[in-house]
Amino acid sequence: MSEKNLESMEIVDVDMGKRSFRVRRTAYTSPEIFELEKKRIFDKVWLYIGHGSELKKNGDFRTRRLAGRDLIFVRDKNGEVAVFYNSCTHRGARIYREPSGNARNIVCPYHGWVFNTEGKLLSLKNETGFGEKLNDDGHLDLIRVARLEQYRNFYFINFNPKAISLHDYLAGARDVIDAICDQAETEQIILPGEQSYTVRANYKYLAENSYDGYHVTATHASYLDFLRDSAKGTPAEAKFDEVMRNYATQGQVRSLGNGHAVLESFVPSGRAVAQWTPAMGAKFKEPIEAKKRSLVERFGPERADYIAETQKNLVIFPNLVINDIMAITVRYIEPESQNFLRVNSWALGPAEENEELRAARLDGYVSFLGPAGFGSPDDIEMLELCQQGLEHTAGEWNEMSKGAFTDGDARTLVGGPQDEVQLRAYWTQWDRIMRGLDTLEE
Ligand code: FES
Ligand SMILES: [Fe+2]
Repeated sequence: MSEKNLESMEIVDVDMGKRSFRVRRTAYTSPEIFELEKKRIFDKVWLYIGHGSELKKNGDFRTRRLAGRDLIFVRDKNGEVAVFYNSCTHRGARIYREPSGNARNIVCPYHGWVFNTEGKLLSLKNETGFGEKLNDDGHLDLIRVARLEQYRNFYFINFNPKAISLHDYLAGARDVIDAICDQAETEQIILPGEQSYTVRANYKYLAENSYDGYHVTATHASYLDFLRDSAKGTPAEAKFDEVMRNYATQGQVRSLGNGHAVLESFVPSGRAVAQWTPAMGAKFKEPIEAKKRSLVERFGPERADYIAETQKNLVIFPNLVINDIMAITVRYIEPESQNFLRVNSWALGPAEENEELRAARLDGYVSFLGPAGFGSPDDIEMLELCQQGLEHTAGEWNEMSKGAFTDGDARTLVGGPQDEVQLRAYWTQWDRIMRGLDTLEE
């Protein structure tokens, strides 16, 4: 399939008469489309590389793989964050093999060239034979990624030097990030540890799943049973039933611009900020309620409710998920191929949190979000079933029209919590970028 053929091929199909919005299944299965996505999307959009709190001290580094590139995310000797390609300028060796560490200099294991944390080449080991002016123009310094910007300590890179600013790219997602960051009285930090797992599915399936309110009662029935059981015989039981009765109508999905969207919903799982439920244990009632009071003081009752009680499943197009639900997860989805993805995910929590609350938060995190929790394994199973289904069927289209045209437009910007507004926002942007209608450049 040539690029031209791909451009003229209708991937997203909208039929107003039938109220249908559908996506051609080859977008999840074709290696040619995957190659083109790398060039047109991943080389142009802002991609999350890490959180500033992961680099506490000067010289701290993390190695990351983004869109097929090995990168070094490092705090240099002046305290500035930098991102370099993890490849030596001599003959290309990957320099760091470890996931993280701290070093005064960056030393290539092959012939021993030494770079400082700002990427400057300091020494060519045994320099005899190299020209004295060889690196006068700096071309042998470590290569920096074209752009690096941050929003509230979330660092993103862009391989396109002409890209619009991260601030503009994030658009309406900034306000949701603010609500998540403002939970902390000091700052939100990435908590120690990382989960990394793979799924035999296209990366877009996990993005779609991460803010899909429609699947929750079917896919996660056993989790909801567990929550109901833990509320049994307590005053929370009636509350649980009420929340579940209203689950399909309370909350919303909202498009945030540039393909980003959020699901805002209410699930009776409890939230370390700042919504207590009996399942969390009696001793947490007072400290969690105190957090809520402090939020009301800082932001007023309406914003405090939004921060504390609304669960937010945010997807920043195309592959960053921030789920602020029973705990907060930051989840980066690396597309390895058209039918294989890798996830790196971290828990985020307030720096000031005491040990007990931190433990309760992490307990909530692993009980649902971890790869052995109630949630993720069920989701992963569904994603793999989807991918298998696509690869073994004559069916051509995925339907995602729930809640479309409610205001006469397929791209309706707000819908009920089980509508598919967010998927249409994602795919509309995907289609625009793939067709060259949005270059994401200044
Ligand atoms: S490849 Fe790094 S020093 Fe030779
Ligand atoms: Fe799920």
